[in-house]
Amino acid sequence: MSALVFATNNPHKIAEVKEMLGEHYDFLSLADIGCEEDIPETSPTLAGNAQQKARYVREKYGYDCFSEDTGLEVDALDGAPGVITARYAGPTRSAAANNEKVLKELGDRRDRSARFRTFICLILEGEEHLFEGRCEGRITDAPRGEGGFGYDPIFLPEEGDGRVFAEMSGAEKHAISHRGRALNKLTDFLTEKAAS
Ligand code: IMP
Repeated sequence: MSALVFATNNPHKIAEVKEMLGEHYDFLSLADIGCEEDIPETSPTLAGNAQQKARYVREKYGYDCFSEDTGLEVDALDGAPGVITARYAGPTRSAAANNEKVLKELGDRRDRSARFRTFICLILEGEEHLFEGRCEGRITDAPRGEGGFGYDPIFLPEEGDGRVFAEMSGAEKHAISHRGRALNKLTDFLTEKAAS
């Protein structure tokens, strides 16, 4: 089984990736390779942040790796929180505070359309590849559900059955989520590469 570093220490993201691709790859987290520092994420774009993280791991630790960066874009908030999705309500990165801030900023506005976008940057054998996954949806009026993480309690995917992400099982969420879609593109690429 090939080893591939997933440049994150977010246990939710690692669990999601292992659920989806764990049979094919031996995923190493940043902690597994001894990378304990905060990797800079200073780009003004999600794609740029994903590239910055993957390049850092490749250059400093020498591993083939991939990184991802995800943002929530709310149309009525001019695309916010966007690139500051993790820190929308401040540096503590509290999911509850972030959700509360989105709901407060939106108030009782009727246009609640939003989307998650994930960019994955893979660096393999010296080449860099970018994959994007999107999930269109709406922001609810209040948080619901117990599962998932981050903004899952207030995000109602367009293709679902009326449940927010936090009310779905992991498998149900991956089937339609931004990260699931970006990871499917990554998997297709890696599978093709292995077969060639
Ligand atoms: P980052 O990609 O680790 O910078 O995460 C950005 C922010 O988006 C964090 O606040 C996460 O909690 C949130 N986030 C990332 N993926 C998801 C998801 O699948 N559902 C809900 N929130 C997410």
